Amino acid sequence: MMWLLLFALKVPLGLDTHIPTPPDNPLRDDTIRLGRKLFFDKRLSRDNSLSCATCHDPNRAFTDQNPQAIGVNHQTGTRRSPRILNRAWGTKFFWDGRSPSLEDQVLQPIANPIEMALPLNEALEKLNQIDDYKPIDAPKLAKALASYVRTILAGNSPYDQYLAGNQSALTPQQQKGLQLFRGKANCISCHLGPNLTDEELHQTGVHPKPQEKGIKTPSLRQIAQAAPYFHDGSAKDLNEVINHYNKGEAEDPEIRPLHLTEPEKQSLIEFLKSLTGEIREGLQP
Ligand code: HEC
Ligand code: HEC
Repeated sequence: MMWLLLFALKVPLGLDTHIPTPPDNPLRDDTIRLGRKLFFDKRLSRDNSLSCATCHDPNRAFTDQNPQAIGVNHQTGTRRSPRILNRAWGTKFFWDGRSPSLEDQVLQPIANPIEMALPLNEALEKLNQIDDYKPIDAPKLAKALASYVRTILAGNSPYDQYLAGNQSALTPQQQKGLQLFRGKANCISCHLGPNLTDEELHQTGVHPKPQEKGIKTPSLRQIAQAAPYFHDGSAKDLNEVINHYNKGEAEDPEIRPLHLTEPEKQSLIEFLKSLTGEIREGLQP
């Protein structure tokens, strides 16, 4: 028997309780379970050395500590592993937004020669020799991994509690930071909504490459847990991030010099810390 599980998943405070799914891949407990098993299985890589969770570590807000991702044979990529939180509401995937759906995205790291380096047909051959997985084909693999990723939810932070009416959930300094975030510092023009992102591409002046039209605004949930920052891991802490925005050198019209004072910078950083709350994943009761 397969049960539709949508209504039973506990969504943390601050997020829409409806988790969107494509019509042909509703959330079901069996697909979520299978996806979770695959996500943590190192056999998905050529030399059995890394799983999805190696780079997207549940104990590090589903990223890792490397400025750029490290794949099989210690190959270093060019981009940082993003935190994969609340991606159920994503509309484009990867830093440059080149993938249109999670079902499309999740198969790519497996075949990517500098990530898991296992071409899809070889991955399927390998998985079909394992009792836990067989029989499995590409659509089943994609649907399972995508379903599990959709269950990775971050919310119930002091910020969410404050918005829900608990005035003391944010310190006075954090409340000042929130005012700056929405006002003088203009962060809200891109980092907005329940997931603090507009899901759009922007050129914010972080080492743009000529072939990149822009980088997708990342969510800021759990941000204080997830240094280093930016798509190339070039900012070592939140201080460096704020100093980057304060300079305001970028093509995007919403980026301009901010003239923040030192206490204002500190308030913004303290506010960003209030975005760290609870992470839920899988079928956690
Ligand atoms: C070697 C490290 C590494 C491994 C292993 C890895 N990823 Fe990633 N992941 C990355 C990097 C780096 C990016 C961003 C790449 C880019 O933007 O070009 C990414 C992007 C993503 C995204 C897009 C997030 C967003 O918001 O755009 C998802 C979802 C994701 N990975 C899921 C997975 C899954 C599922 C697996 C296992 C099948 C996996 N990853 C394996 C490093 C890794
Ligand atoms: C014009 C849109 C825009 C504005 C305005 C903006 N951001 Fe961003 N933000 C982005 C984009 C795009 C990135 C990804 C940049 C990159 O990695 O190259 C980003 C990245 C970040 C990161 C790093 C996230 C990560 O996962 O590494 C933090 C932290 C951040 N922004 C905070 C802020 C704060 C604080 C403000 C206000 C001072 C702000 N942003 C204003 C679009 C914006």
